[in-house]
Amino acid sequence: MTVDIDELKRLAAATAVDAVKSGMIVGLGTGSTALLMVQELGQRLQKGRLNNIVGIPTSEQSARQAQSLGIPLTTLSEQPTLDVTIDGADEIDPQLDLIKGLGGSLLREKIVASSSLRFIIIGDQRKLVHRLGTRAPLPVEVIPFAQRPVSDFLRALGSQPVIRENDGETFITDEGNIILDCHFAEIANPRQLALEVKAYPGVVEHGFFLAMATEAIVATSTGIKHFKRE
Ligand code: A5P
Repeated sequence: MTVDIDELKRLAAATAVDAVKSGMIVGLGTGSTALLMVQELGQRLQKGRLNNIVGIPTSEQSARQAQSLGIPLTTLSEQPTLDVTIDGADEIDPQLDLIKGLGGSLLREKIVASSSLRFIIIGDQRKLVHRLGTRAPLPVEVIPFAQRPVSDFLRALGSQPVIRENDGETFITDEGNIILDCHFAEIANPRQLALEVKAYPGVVEHGFFLAMATEAIVATSTGIKHFKRE
């Protein structure tokens, strides 16, 4: 049986939008799955199924998309607490710990998610992993000035950091930083690794999102799975 991944993404996205009620402040994730969620939100607003929604985008890309759909936007300065944020992930483990950031927006995504009462992850079945680091590299956002020392440090921790590129050019994040994608043979203790990486000078943020997601809505070939953090 062939699985239509785009259809699974759409299903997860549409299911998650059911959590959005009129009048809510909503965090708008980034990436191909979040894009479908923002599309669905825009359609429900246009059809009048939802009203008075205000979005806080997690990237310039999702800001542009929301604007094109007529979704009103605000900022964390105006609205420091969000009702819900819906975003994709690159890996989801059984505890709902995540790796995020292959879309390059991990920093703003983490800030918006940390300000949200509910943080709902959406994805297709490929994102479910038994252990973090088995499917995706760990993205680490670094100020450009610190590229070499941070790369050396990440190598000493056992990874093979690769500077992310886009169309042959170094990828620059919305905050003007670079991303080192770190391939580890094995991540035995994500919490310990997260602390060590975050503490190193020049590291702005890493893609571990630990104990942050309150739920995950994962579309699989046998239906939707709705996981909730205990
Ligand atoms: C963006 O920076 C990421 O965290 C995305 O949410 C993540 O990469 C998932 O993206 P897709 O939905 O495109 O797989």
